[in-house]
Amino acid sequence: MEQTEARGLTNALEWTVIQTMAAADSSLRLGQNVGLAIVSGEDQASYTLHPEEARILSPRACGRKRVEFALGRAAAHFALKQIGFENPPPVLRGQKGEPIWPDGIVGSITHCHPWSVAVAVKCSNGFAIGVDLETVERIQGTDISDLVCREAELDWVRGGDFQQRLTMIFSAKEAVYKALYPLCRRYIDFKEVELTWFPGQYCFQGEFLAPFGLNLPRGQACAVHCRCHAELVF
Ligand SMILES: CC(C)(COP(=O)(O)OP(=O)(O)OC[C@H]1O[C@@H](n2cnc3c(N)ncnc32)[C@H](O)[C@@H]1OP(=O)(O)O)[C@@H](O)C(=O)NCCC(=O)NCCS
Repeated sequence: MEQTEARGLTNALEWTVIQTMAAADSSLRLGQNVGLAIVSGEDQASYTLHPEEARILSPRACGRKRVEFALGRAAAHFALKQIGFENPPPVLRGQKGEPIWPDGIVGSITHCHPWSVAVAVKCSNGFAIGVDLETVERIQGTDISDLVCREAELDWVRGGDFQQRLTMIFSAKEAVYKALYPLCRRYIDFKEVELTWFPGQYCFQGEFLAPFGLNLPRGQACAVHCRCHAELVF
């Protein structure tokens, strides 16, 4: 069962990554300079944490956190292998939780039980990528729409399947944060970026409503590809 689900999720994620790369830079190719790995509990035995990665984990971290962290590092390791690292170095953690990739690589990690996903891209300066996997169920408990959405986004969310659209906006914004944090090194509030949905392109157009750094001025646009697959949103 999990294998069939994994295939479906892999196909959907690959499609989204290919679209994202094609829109960003035609020289970026999945399997060449872009690595994507999706792992679940079944893959846990296939990767042993590097000792330096193991040291990141607090002794107080709960069992679920430990498994998630190990799966995320396994995914990072496999993604790096796909783009030419024979023995990938450990992926450590920065002050605010951001993964530290080898020089010349940008990437991102996400967890959504039972899956962990990593994307690693070999590229030149300035490129940024963030990935976030959510389920509609995960955010259904409390209404976070006022926390996450700006007025225009709320209109869009209310104009269709409320929970699904809210999950799409939430996931897309978390992906934006993961992409931008390594460049701007500051917290970005959910309302500091406005997203507009382009249905034919499965893509949000994002606009920065504040400057996030020298090369990230107010008004800058960014593309955030987003897809719903079964109960998952990414
Ligand atoms: C950091 C954050 C985005 C993580 O998202 P999440 O849905 O809670 O968790 P996920 O499983 O999807 O992602 C966790 C991974 O994110 C990565 N991550 C954590 N902090 C990060 C940061 N500051 N920058 C980049 N990546 C980060 C890590 O790799 C982490 O996995 P790891 O601990 O195993 O290495 C979220 O907790 C958060 O703080 N959001 C608020 C800020 C925000 O999203 N603003 C929107 C601006 S438009």
